[in-house]
Amino acid sequence: MNAVVLAGGLSPERDVSLSSGCLIANALIKNGHAAVLLDLYTGMEDSSCFGEALEKHGAGNYTYTIPPEEPDLEKLKTRCGGREEWIGPNVIEICKTADAVFLALHGAMGENGQIQAVFDTYNISYTGTGYTGSLLAMDKGISKELMSFHKIKTPDWILHYGKTPPPVPFLPCVIKPVHCGSSIGVSIVETAGEFAAALSYAGKYEDTLLFERKIDGREFTVGILDGRALPVIEIIPRSGFFDYRNKYQQGMTSEICPADIDTSLSRELQDTASAVHRILRLGSYSRIDFIVDKTGTVHCLEANTLPGMTPASLLPQASAAAGISYEALCERILNLALG
Ligand code: DAL
Ligand code: MG
Repeated sequence: MNAVVLAGGLSPERDVSLSSGCLIANALIKNGHAAVLLDLYTGMEDSSCFGEALEKHGAGNYTYTIPPEEPDLEKLKTRCGGREEWIGPNVIEICKTADAVFLALHGAMGENGQIQAVFDTYNISYTGTGYTGSLLAMDKGISKELMSFHKIKTPDWILHYGKTPPPVPFLPCVIKPVHCGSSIGVSIVETAGEFAAALSYAGKYEDTLLFERKIDGREFTVGILDGRALPVIEIIPRSGFFDYRNKYQQGMTSEICPADIDTSLSRELQDTASAVHRILRLGSYSRIDFIVDKTGTVHCLEANTLPGMTPASLLPQASAAAGISYEALCERILNLALG
């Protein structure tokens, strides 16, 4: 099969996406496909993009820019070539000649339905979730409204729009840009004194912010692949919360899969993940994140339509626990794009 692995782009998760894309492209090549790694923004598909990204993010020896990519979109554009459009000039043409595009994009303009809508317009086959589900899941506010409507517990929240500072909401709370991934822009606010700094940090990434009541408890995630829930993973950061650093620096977090929990909690997490996947109209795969509080109540935080596929990422670990190798996982996702 001719596959284009689409990664990079103008997103604060550009780095993470290139890492996912490299490994996916390698896996597809190992599986016998003709795969190229293509940067959504620069349109580069040559070996220098591939090589640079591999060198930086190759399996077992990967490093990430911390803090992550430039929050200032204009600066990020300049660093990556300074073009105005967010799709590289030849990207659509290259994708049209492929049998399928494997989306390794993370963050807005990749995960939020825009590129999916463009591909639908051109009849280009792509992996994962379609336009509607991508849009619904990428907006943490809309996702929570839908979960709530369907009686899926999610921590209380308030949405804040615009630049005018709001009053301090309930405390402790978690402040999140509403469309970012990988915990970029996220802070936990325990006291009113910490509020202004957290607000200004999140505001670097987006004007629309989510204030979510902080739930103390254990953190879990559940991958869904081809309609089935994978084994539950428990996430235990060595310190602090599962922020960007704890996600992508080796040794900072224990990820236990299958999680050491009783069967009924495991089933509840898997069933809830499947329900959220359905409610948000998600496609061939996803990863759903949870907190379970001290009373055992399951709270859903969010859904990820293009979960990370880096060496540190969770979905590949859950697949491995289900006996599905990284290569087999990529093969399944690619084949599911063709229906
Ligand atoms: N947003 C990152 C890539 C994840 O969900 O894994
Ligand atoms: Mg996410």
